[in-house]
Amino acid sequence: MIVPHREHPNLRLFEHPLIAHKLTRARDRSTSSAEFRRLLNEIAGLMTFGISADLPTEEVALETPMEATRGVRIRGPVTLVPILRAGLGMTDGILALFPEARVGHVGLYRDETDLVPVPYYLKLPADVAQGPVLIVDPMLATGGSAAHAAGQLKARGCRTLSFVCLVCAPPGVERMRARHPDVPIYAAALDRQLDARGFILPGLGDAGDRIFGTT
Ligand code: PRP
Repeated sequence: MIVPHREHPNLRLFEHPLIAHKLTRARDRSTSSAEFRRLLNEIAGLMTFGISADLPTEEVALETPMEATRGVRIRGPVTLVPILRAGLGMTDGILALFPEARVGHVGLYRDETDLVPVPYYLKLPADVAQGPVLIVDPMLATGGSAAHAAGQLKARGCRTLSFVCLVCAPPGVERMRARHPDVPIYAAALDRQLDARGFILPGLGDAGDRIFGTT
């Protein structure tokens, strides 16, 4: 279901008919904002099932109504960090499966002329470095935003980072590999290329605008 990519060792691609089916609907320009939002959260939820297989676990003691026993739980605290705005479009889908996660926020937008990420907001749990962090953004294009966010989190002491997106392009994957080779990228698709404005082709358009209806 999750396949390491041959050319990009930092990339883990989901190969699943239901994820592919929903991503196809999300890519379609005729899909409404309401359906696009729903699809992003549904795909994020399906991806969470696979990504969580790599989270650290620990044994705990508990009592069932019948007897004392031992169980397994995810060793936390786990923090989701959506990159504003579009990362918010996947967050509820992940929280639906893993409601114990906390949510930090990184505010970044890409300058339209030079595509350099501009930071405008950062709010993280004080103990964010104590557990795994999933950075969430539907799109990895040049990789500038993802690399900047990972850098901000490492500056706060975070050591176990992953990046979760729907679609990525080779330049973004390679930038992350160069800047943060220790951060695995989980994606539903690796797209062909970027256009002259840094948009992913075939992509799904501007995810933030489609989620929030701001086109
Ligand atoms: C988009 C997207 C990523 C970034 C990807 O956000 O959601 O954050 O661009 O591009 P990069 O890999 O080249 O950095 P955008 O800047 O459009 O902001 P928004 O989410 O507020 O719309």
